[in-house]
Amino acid sequence: MKTKLVAFTLLASISAFASFAQDAADPFADVVETRHGLMLQMASDLGTLGGMAKGTAAYDQAAATQAASNIAAIASVLSMAQFPAGSETGAAADSYALADIWTKQDDFLSKITDLNNAAGMMKMAAATDADAIKGSMAQLGGACSACHKSYRQPES
Ligand code: HEC
Repeated sequence: MKTKLVAFTLLASISAFASFAQDAADPFADVVETRHGLMLQMASDLGTLGGMAKGTAAYDQAAATQAASNIAAIASVLSMAQFPAGSETGAAADSYALADIWTKQDDFLSKITDLNNAAGMMKMAAATDADAIKGSMAQLGGACSACHKSYRQPES
């Protein structure tokens, strides 16, 4: 018990130091990493739903509901907070965010709203059946790609 606590405290102080060291080098390192993590989690959940929509995975109500709920939760977290001005590609390391995010901020935010709406529809579909998931895939996938098309630099 005591050893565990010491190990935990040590770990916590190491990671606090690591993120401090990183912040000193690049003020946007943490926020870029955060938004990448949020995006990657959504991609993983979308993959789960996509498999059931395509029939490569059997419909599993609990797994589908979890995946759709995760996307809805992440969508509700997305805001300008993960996209501070100055963290665009070229200015912040590892960022593929296009500068249009800040010049067309209203449109960017409306694309977050679209994602929230699509995720809400998918939550209902996920609780229904594979056909319903299939029917909601275009709206949800479309919400991802509409934003990427305008605001994410393609990796190439
Ligand atoms: C409102 C805009 C917006 C929406 C909606 C959106 N994304 Fe993104 N996404 C971005 C931006 C901007 C980036 C680039 C971020 C960066 O590189 O810092 C990105 C990056 C990504 C990445 C690459 C992450 C990495 O590690 O480089 C993945 C994967 C991704 N998004 C998946 C998704 C999925 C799946 C959805 C829908 C469920 C989605 N995104 C919805 C804006 C959006």
